[in-house]
Amino acid sequence: MLVPHHIENLRPYEAGKSIESLQAESGLTEIYKLGSNENPLGPSPKVAEAIQKTIHQIFRYPDTKASRLREALAKRFKVKIENCVVGNGSEGIMSAIIGTFLHDKDEVLTASCTFTGFFVLTRARGLKLNTVPLKGFCFDLDAMAAAITPNTKIIFLCNPNNPTGTIFTRKEFERFMTKVPEGTLVILDEAYAEFALDNPDFPDSMSYRLDNCITLRTFSKVYGLAGMRIGYGFAHENLIQYILKVKLPFEPSVLAQAAAAAALEDQAFVEETLRVVREGRDFFVNSFKDIGLRVLPSEANFVTLVFNSEEEAMQIYEFLLKKGIIVRPLKNFGMEEGLRISVGKKEENIKCIEALQEIVKA
Ligand SMILES: Cc1ncc(COP(=O)(O)O)c(C=O)c1O
Repeated sequence: MLVPHHIENLRPYEAGKSIESLQAESGLTEIYKLGSNENPLGPSPKVAEAIQKTIHQIFRYPDTKASRLREALAKRFKVKIENCVVGNGSEGIMSAIIGTFLHDKDEVLTASCTFTGFFVLTRARGLKLNTVPLKGFCFDLDAMAAAITPNTKIIFLCNPNNPTGTIFTRKEFERFMTKVPEGTLVILDEAYAEFALDNPDFPDSMSYRLDNCITLRTFSKVYGLAGMRIGYGFAHENLIQYILKVKLPFEPSVLAQAAAAAALEDQAFVEETLRVVREGRDFFVNSFKDIGLRVLPSEANFVTLVFNSEEEAMQIYEFLLKKGIIVRPLKNFGMEEGLRISVGKKEENIKCIEALQEIVKA
């Protein structure tokens, strides 16, 4: 056989439905994409400017060290450049981490319902993936600590968690870290951290200095650069040095590096995004409760509804699609009865609520 069993049997990552595919299927012209947790405001205008300025440089290979961007990140987060890594999305860095630290017998531990991209990356390497169920839709860190074995090499935590939007607290995290052996690496996926930083219970990983932790963040969400593919991470310089050996030398691209550097400077855009998302999130949560729907408390740029069954969730999903509203069914995440809805612009949120009111009444 050409490929190993684990590749033959691998279920690839399934992205949220695109506007183009819904248009092609339905002929609808007015479509609202609330399925992929993208920034409702688009990118910062300063990013467009930076891309235009850089476009004539794309015949050159990118700076393999991404020095300008890493320096800017180091300055912003008060660390050294040696503590920073950038890659093709935070998922690109995740892939490099898996390639760097895992041997064949190593095991990976995470929650059963979290970012599926990580599952695909570990399964693509044929590695053993152990999962612990969520408790009350949150990471159960005590149960995860109890599930650590001598073979556990990487623990993947996602905070706020995708797809639930919930967080684990400072206290829970600090207790957990006392139980993690030194030789086990903890990945803290904080793709949605910016939306949670105003919560004093949120354990901002950048406020800790833990030698066996890697923080992963992204320009895809609050910075509005999902299509550019650029993410960043922080860790002890020894860990970063190994990741840099394995990471593809020319990622991220010339344009992605320039776009991210410009995005990082435009903090007014970030503030505006946070304002729009928090306002939209409150509107969603209050409206869902008024309609009588069960919604999980969210610290991210999306909210998750819990229905009585997969059938009910899918019925609502299909109804919303007919109205041109794309949300995310959560079967692939192991939460069949859930639907995840990204916070959009005000008018998009209102459309979504009106459609939900209609189907719930019916
Ligand atoms: C929790 C989480 N981590 C990582 C990613 C991947 O982000 P990136 O676009 O930086 O690869 C996503 C994307 O949705 C996510 O939800």
